[in-house]
Amino acid sequence: MTAKLINGAEIARQIREEIKQEVIQLKAKHNLVPGLATVLLGADPGSLSYITGKEKTARELGFYSERIDLPETTSQKDLLSLIEKLNKEPKIHGILVQMPLPEHINESEVLYAIDPRKDVDAFHPVNVGKLMIGDADYLPCTPAGIQQLLIRSGVKIDGAEVVVVGRSNIVGKPIANILMQKNKGANATVTLCHTHTRDLASHTHRADILIVAAGKLKAVTADMVKEGAVVIDVGVNQIGTSTSGKRIIRGDVDFDAVKEKASMITPVPGGVGPMTITMLMLNTLKAAKLAAGLA
Ligand code: GUN
Repeated sequence: MTAKLINGAEIARQIREEIKQEVIQLKAKHNLVPGLATVLLGADPGSLSYITGKEKTARELGFYSERIDLPETTSQKDLLSLIEKLNKEPKIHGILVQMPLPEHINESEVLYAIDPRKDVDAFHPVNVGKLMIGDADYLPCTPAGIQQLLIRSGVKIDGAEVVVVGRSNIVGKPIANILMQKNKGANATVTLCHTHTRDLASHTHRADILIVAAGKLKAVTADMVKEGAVVIDVGVNQIGTSTSGKRIIRGDVDFDAVKEKASMITPVPGGVGPMTITMLMLNTLKAAKLAAGLA
């Protein structure tokens, strides 16, 4: 079997078009414009590229977008004061502080200071807890993107054996949580594997849907995959730089071999990646509607 490619760029484009139409409606009917504040400390090239993408997408979708660039030496106190100000600003519905933050900043304290209603990353413990009990307002962006890729590719999630490799707070734990909920687009039987899992292949072999967020090149090889499985590769590993200076990226899955066994697979790049920013926009739209009593 040669797997069908799940085209994340195209699915993300469709969702962005849906958001754009809804923003036009909200503006016309309720004079409501979703507002996103993006905050960056310092000038790390990776973070700069991510945050520029977020800000640009927000503007393209008709959002109000406020970009705040602060020096790397900004104090904890000044960052917390900024968040306090953004928490109170009615034009801003979503606040995104780009991670990682410089060493002298206490990251948890910053995340906890964001009003959970404006926490469009869904990293605040209130939002993590609400997801856990099946009462989420916002889903964290990368896992929400994975769920949408599965749903919009017609993958049957209900009752499926899902195996997740990796237990990060940003991907592994929340995607396991989302897909085990008693919800449409979920109801799966989920196994979460990690670096201390004994005999990883014995678990991955059972997966109808295999989600790999291990942070390691070729963490999953063809012999670990069941014939016909759906494989979602969340890995972002830089293997080199092209002659034009672009980063060359590969996932965590041995793509060339695994695509001969899977029924569907996400490529890297162009699979999960394009979904993340799009889901951030969906959360910001939801935050605006919740603030206006429209959701
Ligand atoms: N850094 C890497 N990924 C993310 C993300 O999803 N949100 C934020 N705020 N920072 C990140």
